[in-house]
This record gives sequence, structure tokens and C-alpha cells, in this order.
Amino acid sequence: MDNQDYLKALQDRASSVLKHRLEAPGMASQLEEAVHYVVHNGGKRIRPVLAYASAEAVGGTQEDADNCACAVELIHAYSLVHDDLPAMDDDALRRGQPTCHIKFDEATAILAGDALQSLAYELLTDTRGRMPEPSKALEMISTLAAASGWKGMVGGQSLDIEGAGKIKNEQELALMHQLKTGALINASVRLGALSTGLVSDIQLQSLETFSSCMGLAFQIRDDILDVEGDTQTLGKQQGKDLTMNKPTYPSILGMDGAKQRMQSLLEEGTVALEGFGDKGSNLLGIAHYIIDRQH
Ligand code: IPE
Ligand code: IPE
Ligand code: MG
Ligand code: MG
Ligand code: MG
Repeated sequence: MDNQDYLKALQDRASSVLKHRLEAPGMASQLEEAVHYVVHNGGKRIRPVLAYASAEAVGGTQEDADNCACAVELIHAYSLVHDDLPAMDDDALRRGQPTCHIKFDEATAILAGDALQSLAYELLTDTRGRMPEPSKALEMISTLAAASGWKGMVGGQSLDIEGAGKIKNEQELALMHQLKTGALINASVRLGALSTGLVSDIQLQSLETFSSCMGLAFQIRDDILDVEGDTQTLGKQQGKDLTMNKPTYPSILGMDGAKQRMQSLLEEGTVALEGFGDKGSNLLGIAHYIIDRQH
């Protein structure tokens, strides 16, 4: 299977699990419509794909990773709904469609984000999926909680909101990026591996190095695309970072510097996968996709 077919198969798998496991409470409220709207409106599903490929790298199956792959995607979906709110990035376009608060209203978008966050943990512990033994299951819950909260994604978002004009060097910028975006990418890979019950501590360390490189590279690519992409292809407003005076890799290192940094992260990530042999080849394929992607 080539890289594109592999990605498509796993994107479809994640979408199908999300469709079947998310049961709406049936109150016919806007909240239900909003949750459905933001989960099923065409994201790249890169975090689930990473979780599946990580499970595979350590000898597990896709079924092992179904719950955690989709749980991380739900946290991601919530993070985007809140990221787009007027109090944060104030964006009207996401995945080529109106953002959640534009399509519905701000209150509904805030509540949809809240609901998605809880749903992520419902899904992570859903007994219709394959569950690892209890100590591993607990480790997975705590991994997702830590990556999502103030030491992870939310912490990074707060640095981002306070960051305009404050973040002056690459070190500070890397910390913000590693938290707001990297933490969930790290969690995707770690959870996929843990879900199998097969991963060794040494393998977890190598996967941590790999995913830290790819999490930062993912956000650098996002920063680059904000400059070089176009609104139609991106499905979100191009040039927004500059308008909002956001600190980004191109703004701090220059465009060439940003691209070189991304390339060196790919090289470092590639080395970290060496011990996985052929089983790591799909994970490596995703790494290339992350830095070559056009949206
Ligand atoms: C966008 O994430 C926000 C960042 C963390 C950079 P994605 O580029 O993964 O968004 P979707 O899910 O594919 O729309
Ligand atoms: C978003 O970063 C990170 C999270 C949602 C946690 P950005 O603000 O750069 O993402 P986009 O560009 O709006 O997708
Ligand atoms: Mg943002
Ligand atoms: Mg944003
Ligand atoms: Mg961005």
C-alpha cells in the first residue's frame, strides 16, 4: 500500500469508528448538531493515523488503537472549536466551512468544545473497543489528560494568546508550539503504542523522540502554510498569523530558517525510528506527509 492509500484507509477507519461510537443523547439540541458538524467536516485525521501507525510499529493491530485514536481526535476537534472563537483567534473559516460559532453561535461552540472534551474520555474507556489491562488503561487516561491540559495543549494556547509581541526567540516559540500542538501529537503516538500492551520502555522513548520532532514540525508547517498557502486550499484564512501579529517560525527564523528547522526535525525523527525496521515504515511515511502537506 502506498503512503496515500495508507493514510486514506486509516482516515476512513477513524471516521467510521467516530460515526459508530458517538451516540447523540437525542435531545434535538443545537449542541448535538454542532458536535456532529465539527467531528465530521473533513479534518485530515492525522492524530488518529499516527496512533494507528504507532500501534503497528510495535506489533499491535488497528483494533487495539481504535479508542485512543478517536479520543485524541475529539480533543483536537474541541481545541479547534475554541481556537476559532472571537476571544481567541477569531476565525470564520475552518476546513472550507463556517467555524462552529459562525454556523451556530458562541455559546453553542463553547459547549460543543466542552462536550467533545468529555466525550474523548468516554471513548477512551469505551468497552466496545479493545481495552488493555487496567494499569495500562490508567496510564492512557493520564497521558491524554496531561497532554490536553495546562501542561499541554491548553497551556500552549495560553502562551499563544499572551505571546503576541512577547515571544522573541526560537526557544520560547518552540515551547509554545510543543505545548499547543506537539503535546497532542506526542499523546497520539504514545497512546497508540500503549494500546497494544506490547511496547517496551526503550521503544516508548524512541517514539517520544520521534513524536516530539513531528509535533514541532507539524506546527512549523502550519506556520509556513499560513504564509505560502492559499485560503481555498487551506480551508482556513491565509495570512492570519501576520494580521494577528502571532509569533511563528517564519517570523522568528525567516522562511528559509523555518524550512531548514523542519527538515532537521524530519531527519532527527527518522533516526529515532531506525530500531523499528519495516514496522516503522508507515510512521515514517506520515512524517514525510506532515512536512510536505499543502493543507
Ligand atoms: C490544525 O490542525 C491546528 C494545528 C494544531 C496546527 P490540523 O491541520 O490537524 O487540522 P485538521 O484536523 O486537519 O483540520
Ligand atoms: C492551533 O494553532 C493549535 C490548537 C488548536 C491547539 P493555530 O491557531 O495556528 O491553528 P490554525 O492555524 O487556526 O488551524
Ligand atoms: Mg491559535
Ligand atoms: Mg487558529
Ligand atoms: Mg495556524
